[in-house]
Amino acid sequence: MIDRATIDKIIDATNIVEVVGDFISLKKRGVNHLACCPFHNEKTPSFSVSAAKGIYKCFGCGKAGNAVNFVMEHEHLTYVEALKYLGKKYGIEVKEKELTDDEVQVGNKRESMMIVSAYAQDYFSKTLWEHPDGKNIGLSYFRERGFSDKTIKKFQLGYCLDSRSAFSNTALKDGYKREYLVATGLSIERNEDLLDRFFGRVLFPIHSISGRVIAFGGRTLKQDKNIAKYLNSPESEIYIKSNVLYGIFQAKQAIVRTQKCYLVEGYTDVISMHQAGVENVVASSGTSLTTEQIRLIKRFSPNVTVLYDGDAAGIKASLRGIDMLLEDGLNVKVALFPDGDDPDSFARKHSVSELEAFLSDAEQDFISFKTKLLTQEAKKDPIQRASLISDVVRSISMIPDTITRTVYVKECSRLMEMEEEVLSGEVAKLRRKRLYEGTKATELSSLPSEAAADTPTTTPIPFFVSNIYSEASEKELLYFLLKYGEKPLFVDAENNTINVAEYIISELRNDELELQNLLYRKIFDEYIQILKSQNEDCLKHFINHPNQNIMELAINVLSDNYQLSIESYIKSEEPEDVKLRRVIPYAIAAYKSNITKQAFATLSEQLHEAQKLNDSEQVLLFLERLRTLQSIRNSFAKDLHRLTT
Ligand code: CTP
Ligand code: MN
Repeated sequence: MIDRATIDKIIDATNIVEVVGDFISLKKRGVNHLACCPFHNEKTPSFSVSAAKGIYKCFGCGKAGNAVNFVMEHEHLTYVEALKYLGKKYGIEVKEKELTDDEVQVGNKRESMMIVSAYAQDYFSKTLWEHPDGKNIGLSYFRERGFSDKTIKKFQLGYCLDSRSAFSNTALKDGYKREYLVATGLSIERNEDLLDRFFGRVLFPIHSISGRVIAFGGRTLKQDKNIAKYLNSPESEIYIKSNVLYGIFQAKQAIVRTQKCYLVEGYTDVISMHQAGVENVVASSGTSLTTEQIRLIKRFSPNVTVLYDGDAAGIKASLRGIDMLLEDGLNVKVALFPDGDDPDSFARKHSVSELEAFLSDAEQDFISFKTKLLTQEAKKDPIQRASLISDVVRSISMIPDTITRTVYVKECSRLMEMEEEVLSGEVAKLRRKRLYEGTKATELSSLPSEAAADTPTTTPIPFFVSNIYSEASEKELLYFLLKYGEKPLFVDAENNTINVAEYIISELRNDELELQNLLYRKIFDEYIQILKSQNEDCLKHFINHPNQNIMELAINVLSDNYQLSIESYIKSEEPEDVKLRRVIPYAIAAYKSNITKQAFATLSEQLHEAQKLNDSEQVLLFLERLRTLQSIRNSFAKDLHRLTT
């Protein structure tokens, strides 16, 4: 963490024209500076920088922000990294929290391991290009595979001689420590000796996002089925396999430019596609995707296309993994290669334009693709059909965005020939079930008895009231959460204090409701996480939040700029705790009452439609639901009345 004072100092010192000017050439135009936008392709400049306001804005693609955002975007840095960069530029010392001796040591070890990895990469590449065996065996293998010299250099490919200790001995002689050779897995200890892990293999260095070598994949050149085709560096302080995507360093600019990331399986798929001119491609390296890898892609683009070779078993096996991409809000497409081809072989057989044409033709939306695939399979079998439906429901329920979910419900209900209403009901059910799983459910589920007098009678909200957006009410809940979250509200029978945040969260959880405003929801979810860890000052957390929008929202809340619809009920003479005990249950009841009201209106319309169509089954269903909602509305009306008088 960087302290607030330092952040302010950096921001005060920063001149946005100088910062941007380090990366692109700016022309003065009136009070502003103008350039071609670095974030999208354009011929006439629409990227404007205002020194006075300290901001940039592109009128072409809409990107905008301050100097810190610019450095983050342009250099793909995190918030903290960008601040450090600016601190350096303006001579402001950026002290993160003091490092302990242990932390210093870990840092030194990591650095030493990276240094020896860089040395090894250089050694293996030199061997490939200069040593007779390297040239005859390694280099000729790559050339036979169709890799050009330029490609081999770009990916820093190499060769490790087929003698047990050639590399280790040279490294020791050059002064590299045994400890780090072993820690990186480049060498293996055998009694007194050091043996080369990768002997006799061609090497694919694996780079960190900033381009440092952190590991290697080594391919054998032997046909022997008993020898593993690929041998990789072991996991270590610098190489955590699940956090790395092969090729991300070489691909990141292209991913940003094209706003798309192709995801393939292997090293050679990445390299061949690059050589064919498609550079926005990374590999998960044979393992199933992890959340960290997804975050990595998301830093550059939300659009991912997964490329499969055409083997049905493989496709089915990976369907689960793709749900994770959806859950993280990525737009997922898939493309199937023709039977017998993988991206590597296809890219080698075809021209750039053929490859590009194929990719854009073959690409299809993931959920529709999955639904079609499974529908074909489940044609007549009712058991299979049931599992198909729950499978599709799960995928759709992973999508965070309400509108996107609705679109999929429509599309998939058509593909599976089932009622939209039923499908969306299932999706809503699943989302609610998952919503607060794993949080402090049991402790919060029952409300304290002392609270009863001040608390609305908790009328349960039925499942068909879902995804309803009431901006004013959500904003109000968020306001109370941020501003008073840590204030005690009630004491329960066992003398536990329930604070405002716990109360609000449990009220939503009991009805399995979630906020529809994505920014608010994000804050809400983060708040729940913080509650669980229990050792952080929540308000401070949000006021110093790296996400600009969250930070601004939190500051707004604090500075009392909020217009509350229930302000008239906050009687200033009352002591705060008394006030809160009234106002917060009121806000909850108002929220629930509002969404019920909206649901009622929608249902009435649907009823009207169904009556026009003479669909008596639907008419009955809607009437029934309307009756339920009416009684709920009545009870909320009573609660609200009680809480205001
Ligand atoms: N892989 C691995 N260890 C193995 C096999 C595979 O780490 N024993 C990883 C590698 O990253 C590899 C990817 O899984 O690139 C895909 O495996 P595969 O399709 O078998 O290899 P290809 O990349 O196609 O390699 P080649 O074309 O050289 O056979
Ligand atoms: Mn292959």
